[in-house]
Amino acid sequence: MDKLLINGGNRLSGEIAISGAKNAALPILCAGLLTASTLHLSNVPRLQDVATMLKLLRQMGLGIDQDGERIALTGNAIDRLEAPYEMVKTMRASILVLGPLLARFGEAKVSLPGGCAIGSRPVDQHIKGLQAMGAEITIEAGYIHARAKKLKGTRVVTDMITVTGTENLLMAATLADGETVLENAAREPEVGDLANLLVKMGAKIDGIGSDRLMIQGVSSLGGAEHAVIADRIETATFLCAVAAAGGDVTLKNARTDILDVALDKLREAGVVLTSGDGWIRVQMAARPKAVNFRTTEYPGFPTDMQAQFMALNCIADGSSRVTETIFENRFMHVQEMNRLGASIIIDGHTASVTGVEQLIGAPVMATDLRASASLVIAALAARGQTLIDRIYHLDRGYDRMEAKLSAAGADIKRVKA
Ligand code: EPU
Repeated sequence: MDKLLINGGNRLSGEIAISGAKNAALPILCAGLLTASTLHLSNVPRLQDVATMLKLLRQMGLGIDQDGERIALTGNAIDRLEAPYEMVKTMRASILVLGPLLARFGEAKVSLPGGCAIGSRPVDQHIKGLQAMGAEITIEAGYIHARAKKLKGTRVVTDMITVTGTENLLMAATLADGETVLENAAREPEVGDLANLLVKMGAKIDGIGSDRLMIQGVSSLGGAEHAVIADRIETATFLCAVAAAGGDVTLKNARTDILDVALDKLREAGVVLTSGDGWIRVQMAARPKAVNFRTTEYPGFPTDMQAQFMALNCIADGSSRVTETIFENRFMHVQEMNRLGASIIIDGHTASVTGVEQLIGAPVMATDLRASASLVIAALAARGQTLIDRIYHLDRGYDRMEAKLSAAGADIKRVKA
């Protein structure tokens, strides 16, 4: 297993290019199942999760032509309507094949994802929505087996806001008979990016960006060209890295209009931000100030940035309270940060952080994707050497993170197993 070796204390400077969003690319790749024509995608991030998704889609018979960040998908020879346990257990986003397969081919068999490091993460809302659209669904031997000659448009109100649930139902609704209304829909920009691609393919969708999506089913969808939206979580992660390590960095290919709350919190922490079309400059010369926050659905504070902001709070001037409301077990980084000298106490869904002047490097273990990123940030700010184990979590969702940081002056290198 690869590890990351980081010598903390270097200020960061220069430019970092932001990649396409993981959480937009994954559903968008699954949209390739909805058409026999070709989707020409660009700005697809180079990630392990993308590789895993492509492997799954290839097994189903999707034609895939990949050239770096460009991928062409052709769905004219899909012959396997199944996502096996071996794939789904490594990547929960595999559930996103369920809606498209069922809508286009009338059947799908997808393994139930099972447990997850950050919470129980059931998929009952995906199932509830598809059932409301007329699908017959049984759970057999750990698999969701869904059948429907033709899905029927209807009104679906999910019990809670779910990102991949909205995406699955949205894709399914594009090929259903009549109108589907998705109430309580997730408003995350990645849902909007998928919807924009679907419209280019010929789908009829109103309300994009709102919590009420209205989809008029069509009989078939065609090919399209699409550039995946910039990764707002990667952007905010690098902003936190500069805020923690100090320095002056310009992020390119970034979208600042989808990061409001995170940018406000960074300003509150004392970070100087300036931005223009497609770029954002971050300058930090002082110790950060502690900031309180509570994770919520978009446009609120993203759960996918909770750990990275907590790293900042660890070295901040003052005390803070961080509340996680989306996932029930997303504080796995806390014990590792405390190994670096942080002072964090957890009480239920809230972590109380007392900022310390200096973290001190130590061996730590990455437990999930965003926890890994938070440990990198803490290590960049720490005195001495930190060795982060299990960075395969990081490789799942960050495109060449150590290369980008190292080009900006960080002392970070990958230690091969
Ligand atoms: N939930 C249910 N039933 C469902 C669906 C969701 O109870 O059928 C619950 C979940 O257990 C959770 C909450 O609803 O407590 C929200 O979960 P959601 O379905 O929105 O999460 P997701 O779609 O599985 C996506 C991202 C996550 C991100 C969350 C929240 C992708 C591929 N994944 O997951 O990304 O944290 O939305 O914004 O889009 C990450 O990138 O590190 C990551 C975990």
